[in-house]
Amino acid sequence: MTALLLGNAQMTVGYAPGKVILFGEHAVVYCRPAIAVPVADVRAQASIEPGEAGQGTVVHALDLGRTVAVREAADDDPLAQIVRSTLGVIGGDPDPDLTIEVRSTIPIARGMGSGAAVSTAVVRALLAHFGQWRSSRSISELVYQTEVLYHGTPSGIDNTVIAFEKPVFFVKDEGWEVFWVGMPFLLAIADTGVQSSTKEVVGDLRRRHEANPERYEPLFDRVGEIAIAARDAIEGGHNESLGRLMDENQNLLQELGVSCPELDCLVAAAREGGALGAKLSGAGWGGNMIALVTEETRGRVDMMLRLAGATSVIITEVK
Ligand code: MEV
Repeated sequence: MTALLLGNAQMTVGYAPGKVILFGEHAVVYCRPAIAVPVADVRAQASIEPGEAGQGTVVHALDLGRTVAVREAADDDPLAQIVRSTLGVIGGDPDPDLTIEVRSTIPIARGMGSGAAVSTAVVRALLAHFGQWRSSRSISELVYQTEVLYHGTPSGIDNTVIAFEKPVFFVKDEGWEVFWVGMPFLLAIADTGVQSSTKEVVGDLRRRHEANPERYEPLFDRVGEIAIAARDAIEGGHNESLGRLMDENQNLLQELGVSCPELDCLVAAAREGGALGAKLSGAGWGGNMIALVTEETRGRVDMMLRLAGATSVIITEVK
């Protein structure tokens, strides 16, 4: 349940999880398959209460220290945009007197979908406030418009996995499928502590790809093949193969020029700690890496990651 009526009957709350990309980041922008999973250990929350008469809709983004009066905000303000587009879909007053408080435990600019999760939580809270329901698909489509403001040319994988809250196999412009995890597995998600802008990394790769498509197209093809093989491994519960595929995907991400020394260092530390495989996750040039661990190796990998400089490590179960 993602939207609740609390003790105060006037307040509605919407939630959304974070996400990590398991396979296929960047190549997914070029229509190769990718796999992403929700991460419920971190989440965004939006709560709505009636505001002062005449104030219009005001959003307080508590973690960012930002207050946005929707009626005055620029067209390209993502918080204002998600409120306006959701109210447009709901119909009725386009600027009702509402106070929306947004907070999130999802690290910002680390490839965990914080922007998409905040937008999804706002949509869910507004729908609940007005007693309306929309499908996960409609919510994902609304959030995609805001992702364009954050990221320029997003593939759409972040809003999809966060709105559906299930593992997804995603192909841009073709569609996606929720799929079955044959045997739950553990991931260590470690933060380099380095913020990175998805827009910049995707833009840089786009320019290099445009200048030299012969170099990048075969790399994207191979990443896509790995994502297909990884889906088979996940459905079949073949964790050793899954780990090898993560390592291979990481080699290709290095060749694509989106890794960085901090990520390479954490990936090496995880492997040294006994992880079955490890790779960066998300845009790269900072942000998070992921490692496939077991009950036996999780403690050692966690320790090795922290010794290698990880600013946080989350161990999450994918199921
Ligand atoms: C960012 O989380 C993943 C990228 O593939 C960009 C995208 O899919 O839009 C780098």
